[in-house]
Amino acid sequence: MSEPTLRVNNLKVYYYTERGAVKAVDDVSFDLGQQVRLGLVGESGCGKSTMAMGIMRLIKSPGRIVGGQILLDGVDLLQLSEEEMRRARLSQVSLIPQGAMNSLNPVVRVRDQIIDGIIDHEDNISKAELDARVEDVLRSVDLRPSVANMFPHELSGGMKQRVCVAIAISLRPKLVIADEPTSALDVVVQRQVMETIQRLQREMGISMILIGHDMGLMAQSVEQLAVMYAGKLAELASTEAIFEEPLHPYTELLISTLPTLKTKGVFRGIPGITPSLLDPPPGCLFHPRCPRAEKICSAEVPSLREIVPGRWVACHLVQ
Ligand SMILES: Nc1ncnc2c1ncn2[C@@H]1O[C@H](COP(=O)(O)OP(=O)(O)O)[C@@H](O)[C@H]1O
Ligand code: SF4
Ligand SMILES: [Mg+2]
Repeated sequence: MSEPTLRVNNLKVYYYTERGAVKAVDDVSFDLGQQVRLGLVGESGCGKSTMAMGIMRLIKSPGRIVGGQILLDGVDLLQLSEEEMRRARLSQVSLIPQGAMNSLNPVVRVRDQIIDGIIDHEDNISKAELDARVEDVLRSVDLRPSVANMFPHELSGGMKQRVCVAIAISLRPKLVIADEPTSALDVVVQRQVMETIQRLQREMGISMILIGHDMGLMAQSVEQLAVMYAGKLAELASTEAIFEEPLHPYTELLISTLPTLKTKGVFRGIPGITPSLLDPPPGCLFHPRCPRAEKICSAEVPSLREIVPGRWVACHLVQ
């Protein structure tokens, strides 16, 4: 098999608060294959954005990457200097941050926001060439070239999000991380933007991590799914395998709470509250909410094991 584009080994990202360390990403390991779309799902607060920011090395105080490796094509991003990492962002790996469309500068033209990243990475690029690049990249996200002269406040939510995608792919990175790229949009626009993202991923051959909490949308958008719970991975497998037979009890609950025709589209949610990442329960973090918990579950932390090739599960009861 070919080498993975991204290999994350034992990544730990903690926030050091007055009340103690919040273990937002705690000993997470996984591989992301070349040209694969991986969905990272889990309830709010489970550490998805922290994982994204960690991979980009954009964690701010009081957060800190405490340990691990982030290998992009075999190069450990955590070993790069600040300057090397700055150059790697956008050209090797880029992030569409959560809420990105609201962080576009409303009074700077789209063109200037797109070329910002390009001129930061490429010297001696002519104005004509820049204009051509901007036009190209806007077309690739299904926007008219004239959008370049507009201000973000003149654009709809879907168009703004497309501009954010355009910026992220403008230097053709090998890995793109999109943190809830469509969650602020209405359902129809959500699907359209997601289709554009998928098409780009295929055409440009990028590897992609798509973060979301909507299992239904994810099911249609990604080839692999990583289910995160309280800072750890609970399950990782092909989307098909997970929907056919979820092996981790948490994944099973996530899928069973999806709205169906019978429940008339009402999201039911999972009973119980998410554990505190400051003072997590002993053993399996899910045991206070798990319908299948046994004695061992409150005593020992289950490790993420490969149950069958390509299928990883962290649960004592899954053999
Ligand atoms: N700056 C911060 N200081 C302290 N705790 C934080 C900070 N940012 C995030 N956290 C905590 O880290 C955990 C993971 O947050 P986050 O990565 O945003 O989760 P998600 O994206 O899955 O909703 C949460 O418990 C959150 O409260
Ligand atoms: S290890 Fe135990 S508590 Fe955790 S998910 Fe499996 S059965 Fe449930
Ligand atoms: Mg988030």
